[in-house]
Amino acid sequence: MATKTAWGGRFQQELDTDSARFLESVSFDRRLAEEDIAGSLAHAEMLASIGVLTDDDLAKIRQGLGAIRSEIRAGTFTWDAAKEDVHMNIESALTAREGDVGARLHTGRSRNDQVATDMRLWARDACARVGRSLDRLALTLAARADDEIDTLLPAYTHIQRAQPNRLAHHLMAWVEMLDRDHGRLHDCAMRLNECPLGSGAVCATTFPLDRKLTATLLGFARPTRNSLDATADRDFLLELLSALAIASVHLSRIAEEMVWWSTQEFGFVEMADAHATGSSMMPQKKNPDVAEVVRGKSGRVIGDLVSLLVVLKGLPLGYNRDLQEDKVPVFDAVDTVSDATEVMADAMGALRFNRERMRAALGAGFVTATEVADWLAARGVPFRHAHEVAGRLVARAIEARCELAQLPLETFREEHALFDESIFVALDPETAIERRDLPGGPARARVVAAIADARARLEARGASLARTRHATP
Ligand code: ARG
Repeated sequence: MATKTAWGGRFQQELDTDSARFLESVSFDRRLAEEDIAGSLAHAEMLASIGVLTDDDLAKIRQGLGAIRSEIRAGTFTWDAAKEDVHMNIESALTAREGDVGARLHTGRSRNDQVATDMRLWARDACARVGRSLDRLALTLAARADDEIDTLLPAYTHIQRAQPNRLAHHLMAWVEMLDRDHGRLHDCAMRLNECPLGSGAVCATTFPLDRKLTATLLGFARPTRNSLDATADRDFLLELLSALAIASVHLSRIAEEMVWWSTQEFGFVEMADAHATGSSMMPQKKNPDVAEVVRGKSGRVIGDLVSLLVVLKGLPLGYNRDLQEDKVPVFDAVDTVSDATEVMADAMGALRFNRERMRAALGAGFVTATEVADWLAARGVPFRHAHEVAGRLVARAIEARCELAQLPLETFREEHALFDESIFVALDPETAIERRDLPGGPARARVVAAIADARARLEARGASLARTRHATP
């Protein structure tokens, strides 16, 4: 009689220990335990409904899996790397507790459709979780925008002072970016919401499984449509990683502005002591480390996306073991973006805005030069000519070492006969902002409405300012 091995009758030798260590995934895929058990409970219930399991079998499976889940939650479950992955660990614990029913549970199922299901459940939950964190950051920014509704500063292009702006309008630009990040995660969760169970290892199964029932029990919209595709593709994880990479790029850009704005050169913000650090050598230093590390972490998340793209790119249908490499980058990217978003929300909530420095920056740099051109264009001068005139006035102000509003009216009139005293009203930064009264513009009422609109949207989907940080198992 052949030796009994882990892989059954086909094998006469156990797996070499180094190979086993190399192949095991339970050290990281144990994070799928909750999803794996939920999937098994649904599969078992469906098997009982079609008469493959008896009610008694189902009761034992529920009892056993419930007990195993409690042990895992309590941290008392013994994970065994020799049992390769989360699926085999849980199944063999079930068989050890409940006997043969544990061995029947796998009827009409393969680890290939099992792991694809677990990952979809996990990813669906991750989309919701990260989405809540992004919403918390967005809501924090909207609240800060509300407080700073009358704070003015320059808007920049090319990091050069460009036009007068309202700080709230700047903050609400970030809110828009985060709102789209939320939307991408939502779209990803909608598209992945199909149940692979019933796809088997590659070509479904001979058992008459009720795939709709299993899908419904797990909250999926429907079963997947092709067994090869369902077991072998991971594009839903690419979508998740892409959405996370984009979100992390947004976080990084916000962080970058925090770093710039907290320099002595800008002095627009000061990060709270709780989110900054000192230098071990230079006693005067206060570094915006939280912002810098948020910026730095985006590199990792982009790397996670690239890792999975490369893992998938050469894979033929159907399942290949390479697919096991989906987990580490996905878990890492979700953890990293969750943590970065939560830390950023805390830092943004506590950030101090230096209103005087921002306002002072408006007083230099000819940020109202566009107003001069618009003033003429509104009075019939073709815009290109008006732009030329305004440019000449800037040159004269540079020559006279003053700002546009400090040039005498005669100088304006020398450049164009149409100018009168009202040009000085147009040159006031506040007027310049208020006149930009279009949807999407910085006029006070527009920004007040934008804040209310964003808050209503965020609150309608349950956003809150409370911390949503989760404990990483
Ligand atoms: N640990 C495996 C994974 O994550 C589970 C599926 C294994 N399937 C197999 N045929 N070896 O992909």
